[in-house]
Amino acid sequence: MSGSTIKYHVTPGGKLTGQIRVTGDKSISHRSIMLGSLADGTTIVEGFLEGEDNLATLNAFRMLGVDIKGPDNGRVEIHGVGIDGLQAPADVIDLGNSGTSMRLLTGLFSAQSFDTTLTGDKSLVTRPMRRVTEPLTKMGASFTTSESGTPPIQIQGKQRLCGIDYDMPVASAQVKSSLLLAGLYADGQTCVTEPAPTRDHTERMLKGFGYQVQVSGNKVCLLGGGRLKATNIDVPGDISSATFFIVGACIAKDSDLTIKHVGINPTRVGVINILRLMGADITIDNEIDVGGEPVADIHVKYAKLHGINIPEDQVPLAIDEFPAIFVAAAYADGKTVLTGAKELRVKESDRIQAMADGLTILGITAEATEDGIIIEGGSIGSGTVDSHGDHRIAMSFAMAGLCADNEIEILDCENVNTSFPGFAELSNQVGLNLTVKDT
Ligand code: S3P
Repeated sequence: MSGSTIKYHVTPGGKLTGQIRVTGDKSISHRSIMLGSLADGTTIVEGFLEGEDNLATLNAFRMLGVDIKGPDNGRVEIHGVGIDGLQAPADVIDLGNSGTSMRLLTGLFSAQSFDTTLTGDKSLVTRPMRRVTEPLTKMGASFTTSESGTPPIQIQGKQRLCGIDYDMPVASAQVKSSLLLAGLYADGQTCVTEPAPTRDHTERMLKGFGYQVQVSGNKVCLLGGGRLKATNIDVPGDISSATFFIVGACIAKDSDLTIKHVGINPTRVGVINILRLMGADITIDNEIDVGGEPVADIHVKYAKLHGINIPEDQVPLAIDEFPAIFVAAAYADGKTVLTGAKELRVKESDRIQAMADGLTILGITAEATEDGIIIEGGSIGSGTVDSHGDHRIAMSFAMAGLCADNEIEILDCENVNTSFPGFAELSNQVGLNLTVKDT
């Protein structure tokens, strides 16, 4: 999956200090465009993440006739068309690298009165979509995909959907959200039960738009046929983006870093729980509620970490943070073992293999297992690692450079722009020695 010509070069040394803000939450930014477009009235979003993934969602709704102004410095003005106001797109919708857009929009568009075709980049067209097309088909939706269930997905419109009671086999917020969005249009009640808690931004935001959602334990239900009322959304900083800096500050001696205004929704804080179990010095200050989402400042100081067996119940709560956690494990004393994380193999890249390969190149003993990894903490060497076009792999290895014994080169880093535009500049501002090269 190697492709882009953007490389990172990180020279060792440096510590992370000061106060920063990271860019807006990707999951919340996607949902703000989706629900804002379907609402009656005008929704103003502040703090919107202007990453390529979110711009793909925004562009999709423009193609469906929604008037969206911006983004302008994180401000987006969405003139909602109402629940039945979307119009047929003139063309195939290209969602780039964005799995969240693909899975959530497959649910939403399966309930429209027109056909849609969704496609994406070379990573997205390899990612599994049956996890959404199968339950949506049970609701009455109709699709054509590749034989193996991957995109492009042709979605047939004009289907009458019925609510179902679905027991999700994998813990996935994307699947849950896809079904809930289809459920807005279904006859009767749509219920999703998850095997373990996953991020609940869709449920929270639906309530913010005045839609009734019943949550009891691991089951969430809504009744089709309601309407959404426009609201204003202040998107907090993305804890998944903050993670690179949290890990960097944990591993680089004398670091003392505060990341301001980060979303700390309990379904997203697995990384903090895991790093604390490893001995990290992390404090949470100034907690407030912002539009139904908890937000706080995260203060991290260097501390010597030790290896752990990562509790499986933390896996869905830290699902995007494992590449960075593996870098922390590579510096820790002793062995870190992750199990129950097979999902990591079907993210933007196979994150278990990509990280095991990269860490091995850097001299760390890292053994990929079917559903996780075993990492022996040690000292990080130097070398060239491949991010496989995966933004989170690229940024994780960039932080590894803080403590390496020589330069680390990271290949294929362009996709950092999918989730974290400005990462390189912000990193340098707080003490990482990172140079971006375009060859
Ligand atoms: C997301 C859910 C997660 C996560 C992804 C964003 C979301 O995916 O990995 O980056 O916004 O709902 P899964 O639902 O596949 O776990």
